Amino acid sequence: MHPIRFDYTNVMSPAVGVHGLGEKELLSLAEPSARALAAVLARRTKDLRWLDLPYQDALRREILDYAASVRGRFENVCVLGIGGSALGNTALHSALDDPYHDLAPKAGRPRLFVLDNIDPEWMASFLANVDPAKTVFNVVSKSGTTAETMSQFLILRAELVRRLGEKGHRENLVITTDESKGVLREIVRRDGYRSFCVPDGVGGRFSVLSEVGLVSAALVGIDIEALHAGAAAMDQRCRTSKLLENPALLHAALQYGLHTWRGLSMSVTFAYSHRLRNVADWYAQLLAESLGKKLSRAGQTVHRGPTPIRAVGVTDQHSQVQLYAEGPFDKWFTLLAVEEPTAEVTIPRAYPDLEAVAYLGGRTLGQLFHAEREGTRIALTEAGRPNAQFVLQRIDAHAVGQLIYLLELSVAVMGEHYDVDAFDQPGVEAGKIAAYALMGRAGYEQRRAEIEARTRGPKRIL
Ligand code: PA5
Repeated sequence: MHPIRFDYTNVMSPAVGVHGLGEKELLSLAEPSARALAAVLARRTKDLRWLDLPYQDALRREILDYAASVRGRFENVCVLGIGGSALGNTALHSALDDPYHDLAPKAGRPRLFVLDNIDPEWMASFLANVDPAKTVFNVVSKSGTTAETMSQFLILRAELVRRLGEKGHRENLVITTDESKGVLREIVRRDGYRSFCVPDGVGGRFSVLSEVGLVSAALVGIDIEALHAGAAAMDQRCRTSKLLENPALLHAALQYGLHTWRGLSMSVTFAYSHRLRNVADWYAQLLAESLGKKLSRAGQTVHRGPTPIRAVGVTDQHSQVQLYAEGPFDKWFTLLAVEEPTAEVTIPRAYPDLEAVAYLGGRTLGQLFHAEREGTRIALTEAGRPNAQFVLQRIDAHAVGQLIYLLELSVAVMGEHYDVDAFDQPGVEAGKIAAYALMGRAGYEQRRAEIEARTRGPKRIL
């Protein structure tokens, strides 16, 4: 059980000069950070129930019992969901399953597909290539009304009924939705599907450690107990209100300080780990949807929020780093680093007379990966670009649980600093309502008329 290390040396001005933070500046956020933490933690038993998820032993048992009851029955698990009801599932799968798990799944550990888009080409291809009868579909929607997820559900349900009959198809569906609200819960009641409840106080993007992320994780054999244990360890570590001892507080303060005082409005999460690339993706939603807000909590128009960018090392060294090192001073970087890879590959010796390849022989890919990561840190630092890194000793469920909890708490604290409601998403709702209107849903006629009136008039199309 190794605690995640947070190295923020290169965020400070002695390392990166005027674009970094001074000691006094950072410490000026000590008091606000302590207040922010207290405000967030005070809501633990009220509307921020996600803070308490790591301690939900009965929930874990229920999920593990369900997973055990269907073990060996399915070749595939397929999540139907979107946004906070899918990104965490993908992140856990990529981080904790073998990168080629889906090509050659081990016995008792089915493949996992997460269909988080409704592009018909993707769905048609899925239907053509994956046998629904050998698949358990985990339909995940907290609201139980999201058009994308509901349409996927209708398509796959019809396919399952066609293949397995009205009675037989039920075993291939497991629903995760609100306890009482939403049409999905009504469908569960009518058709008697196996279901899990997303508790109140667990919003979409903060739900990966709930039924939302854990059902599919348990079905493919991820150690959800270790995941929760890691999250609980991070929760305990982050109870201190001392800024310099609390990694979530520190990360939130750096984000806020660099954005507010240095104008670094873009936050790049640079995963130096193929497995953690989708954790960066998940974090992008967490940051964007939580902090990107028009209104302050008092209702003033503020248009706040950092812009998340995700990058993967070393791949994006050969794609983005030119911009990062020499482009505008509008970004700061958080690297996700792993100290000990779970596997190693040695580079064979060859061509001793060709120095440009000879020096690689006998070294490992892990050494090269490490050197490339350090090289990027050095280059960013020398170019005056603030960069921090979270260092995981190795990738396992405990470490990933720590990282997820740390980032969730950090974003909740950022909500206090930025003075926005980190837990709503009115901008997303607006798009959903417009789509309902365009699809002719009853009750949305007025909105449809408004949209049609707005889009009348001359078009400018080349
Ligand atoms: O974080 C959020 O709240 C959103 O991204 C939702 O997860 C997303 O819109 C899907 O919503 P639902 O789970 O209600 O289908």
